[in-house]
Order: sequence, then C-alpha cells, then structure tokens
Amino acid sequence: MSDDLPTENVPTQDELDLLRYESRIKRPLQMKIPELERDERLRHVIFGGQFTVDLLEELADTADKIRILSKLRSGQDFLINLLSHKRAMLYFTQPSTRTFLSFMAACQILGMTCNEVRDPTTSSETKGETRFDSIRMFSSYFDLIIMRSKLPSLAECCAYLMNDLQDSGNRSVPIVNAGSGADEHPTQALLDVYTLQRSFQFADANGASVLDRFDELRNSYPDLTKGLAHKVYGFCGDIGRGRTVRSLASLLAKYQDVTLVFISPDHPTLTLRDDLRNRLSEQGVRIHEVTSFEERVNGVPAIELLDALYMTRIQKEHNIPADDEHFAQMDLSQYKLTRQLVARMKSYAPILHPFPRDQHFGEIPPEIDNDPRAMYFRQARNGMWIRAAMLASIFRVDHHIARYFYDEYKDWNNADEGNVPTSQH
Ligand code: NCD
Repeated sequence: MSDDLPTENVPTQDELDLLRYESRIKRPLQMKIPELERDERLRHVIFGGQFTVDLLEELADTADKIRILSKLRSGQDFLINLLSHKRAMLYFTQPSTRTFLSFMAACQILGMTCNEVRDPTTSSETKGETRFDSIRMFSSYFDLIIMRSKLPSLAECCAYLMNDLQDSGNRSVPIVNAGSGADEHPTQALLDVYTLQRSFQFADANGASVLDRFDELRNSYPDLTKGLAHKVYGFCGDIGRGRTVRSLASLLAKYQDVTLVFISPDHPTLTLRDDLRNRLSEQGVRIHEVTSFEERVNGVPAIELLDALYMTRIQKEHNIPADDEHFAQMDLSQYKLTRQLVARMKSYAPILHPFPRDQHFGEIPPEIDNDPRAMYFRQARNGMWIRAAMLASIFRVDHHIARYFYDEYKDWNNADEGNVPTSQH
C-alpha cells in the first residue's frame, strides 16, 4: 500500500482509523503534550513544541557526554551496554538517508538492536493490513517505533493508539516521529537546536579557551550574548512545506527575545502558513516575512542582520501541476546562497541546512562548504549524538551516563572535546 490515502467513496479501514482520532488531533498542542509524557518525562516524541528550554539543555548536555565518552573504547563499552536489552523498529515509508542512518547509529551507540521496514510493499500492508495493525504488530516485537510517513498525523495517531493500548492493559511502546508529511520533524529540530547551542557557545574550534573567541567577537558585536536567546534567525526557501522549518521555528519560539525572518518567494505554496504564523505570534516571537536577502528588516538588508541562517530546498516532490507552472515563471535564483552573500553575513553566523541540498537547484553551492560558518555536515553528525541522548532520556538511562561521566572525568576540569584524553581513533 502506498502512503496516499485511497480515494474511493467507501472509506477504507485506514481512513476510518485516522478519523477515529480526528477530535484528538484537532486539539491545541498544549492539551496534547501531557499525553505524550510519562511521569513528566518524554514518552512519545511527536511535535517540536514538546521540548522545553530546560529539556533542550539537558539533552544537549547528555549528547555532549555521549560524544566525549565515545572517544574512548571504555566509554563506548559502557554506552553499548545501556540499552542492549531493547529493540527498535525503524518504519520509514518515505525516503530518508540522514534521519534513518543517524537514528540507527544512535541506537547502535547505546546497544539497541534495530530492524527496519522501508518499503511497505514488502510488508503485509500489500495484503490489505492497515497501518494501525502494522504498528501494533511492531509494538509486539520491539520496544520503540521510529517512523516517517507522508501522512501528517499518522505518528500522532500511533501515539494515541499506544496510549489507548496501555490504558486497556496491553503492551505499548514509545513512538518517535521522524518526519510527518509537511507538518513536523521534531528530532531534526533537536539536532538543529543542538548545532545552534554549540555554535553559540563561541568556543574555539580546537577547544581552547572559551573566553577568547567570545571576547574577540564582542569587540565587533558588543551586544552579542551566548546561547539561543536574543538572536535573529533567518529561514530561506520553501517555508510553507518545510517540516523542519516548522519544527525548528516552534523550538526557537521558546527562547527569549527571538526574531524570525522568513525569506521565501511570494507564492502561497512557499510562504509561511497561517497556523504557524499565529502560533509564533501568540508566543511573542517577532516575525518578518521578506522575499529576498536584500529586503530591509529594521533598516538593514536581511542577510546582514541574521545571527544564523537556515537554508532549505524547494520541496518539488510536493508540487501540484499548477505549482510547476508557476515556479517555472518565477525567478528563484534569489533563494540560493552565494559567496558574496556569505561574505556579508555576521562573522560568527552559522549556516544550517537539514539536507539533502538540491544539486539541480543549488541553494547552497559546494564552494561555501569550506567557510567556517558552514555547519551542515557537522549538523548531520550532531543528529546522531542528540538522537542518542533522546533515546537515553526516553529509556531513562541518561542519569547513568551522567554518573559514569563524572566518575571518569572528575579529575578533569571543564571536560570537553579539546582536553579529554583520547587513546583511540
Ligand atoms: C528533511 C526532511 O525529510 O524533511 N530532511 C531530513 O530529514 N534531514 C528535509 C528535506 O527533505 O528537505
């Protein structure tokens, strides 16, 4: 069965199953969040808006510890035993490279066994099995389901299915949304935030004194502060259909004094959607929507104002025929980064992209890859560490990691990647 819902007049069981959850889906996010937690900790990960700033800090801290421990064989051996009794199902019915592989690597770091269904034509869905039966079956064999689907609410519905199973005394496992239609991609937002958290520590690349680079930057940017608050974030490209943009914007909205600048072609498919605009405004975020890097925001060309830039590709696989026609007539060249534009950005401003970048469109040409602000490859690797931290949090082994880390490194002050001893690779 494909991810497209059938269009016959008689609803399929899959459609009826989705309808069953409709009233729960329509509720405001704040009502849903408690249902996605257990004992005030993460249970299901469905929306970016589930993470609080405190939780984001905790996860980043665990991810830092995991990456440092992973430098030593002894640390790897410790980590790999933490969840060696758990199994994960990766149910990805939409294409994926980084999310799939980094989740798999994250599971492997903690010793979890993984299995996968990527092509539903190889599963019993071709025999007429509903997705909900498939998910329930996965929950019989595995301890966690990580899923990506073209259907915006499927992961959310599966979380409710698991909660209902638990309430009726049945087996139930956590659901992690690894991308739901054009709606949300919460774990991508986690790794984006983790990359920003690391960038905005302003530590020297070699791990030397943290103060030096920050003090130096403050000579040129006296108002600069560490951390994600008090910053201007730019998003460029397909704002309307970019699920990573939606999830990241929801997370950034939680930080104090944040301005979001959306740079997209003036076309209803590609601009900020009303629901997100309303949600962000309610959270007190300042929003600017412009059509080019040159358009002025507070009197300054947007490109010069940004503290970080999040590039995206045009998601042409979602085009309807009218979009193809309209986009062919539009000048989209302004939504590509050039060396000249990068030269005008703030000297510390990280450039992010969830990837894949589109080689045909060329929103980030490879000539920018060596710029110290280009974060996209590091960002992808960060995904592995922060996803491992999230799994550690879901299965409540994060405190074991913290304890082991402090025991191992109590003799080192300010342990970081620069000064931790590495006896291996
Ligand atoms: C993104 C996605 O799938 O939403 N990719 C990813 O997970 N890193 C972005 C995209 O496909 O453009």
